Amino acid sequence: MHVLIINGSPRVKKYSNTDKILEKLTKGMCENGTTFEQYEVSDRNQWAAIKAAYEKNTNILIALPLFVECIPGLLMEFLETLAPKNDGSKMAFLLQSGFAEGIQLRCGEAYLEILAGKLGCEYKGTLVKGDNFSIRFMDGEMRDKITGKYTQMGREFAKNGDFTSEACRKFTGPEIFPAPVRGLVGLVFKSVAKKGFIKIAQTWGCTKPLDDKPYA
Ligand SMILES: Cc1cc2nc3c(=O)[nH]c(=O)nc-3n(C[C@H](O)[C@H](O)[C@H](O)COP(=O)(O)O)c2cc1C
Repeated sequence: MHVLIINGSPRVKKYSNTDKILEKLTKGMCENGTTFEQYEVSDRNQWAAIKAAYEKNTNILIALPLFVECIPGLLMEFLETLAPKNDGSKMAFLLQSGFAEGIQLRCGEAYLEILAGKLGCEYKGTLVKGDNFSIRFMDGEMRDKITGKYTQMGREFAKNGDFTSEACRKFTGPEIFPAPVRGLVGLVFKSVAKKGFIKIAQTWGCTKPLDDKPYA
């Protein structure tokens, strides 16, 4: 099987969490001879090549981050340039996000199922998982701890070219945290995480408080 992979993140490859996830997913996917070609929607110079690859390939995997509960606008803009295929092509998705609870990705997942049909492709499932905020801030073993899990999902995908197995469904993790955990997460966000966000903003040259309202 040969797979066309489209990274739908608007972030450039170097900084894209989706790209780091795909690195591990494709490692597992290719163990038994599956091959792939990968393109980045963030690079507009690639759009003509992605379009040509979309027309040529029959196994298509679109990997994307959740942006404001749904798909990034840049990916939407690219998708609007595509014509429906209706040639027996198969389309699967990898949907990943920052926050961890599976429930907040379900609306996006439902949208992607409709999208595959609109593009004239057979829907082959969506691998849904959050808790990926920190990938690009980590290196080496710390990063591998988060992204390494996707290697097994690559193996799953290689079996039948889909993300419909029980293992893929379970990969999402908890749909919603229990109440005590939600309380704890709230506290962490108000304290430790807030400090972390402030530090990150400062390293990016931000001199104003994070809750600054310049237009208020
Ligand atoms: C503009 C924007 C909107 C986002 N919206 C959500 C969201 O609604 N839910 C969520 O869990 N994460 C959200 N995130 C976090 C990203 O989904 C997450 O960091 C992802 O791993 C980024 O992948 P990328 O680096 O490949 O773009 C958002 C990030 C940005 C920049």
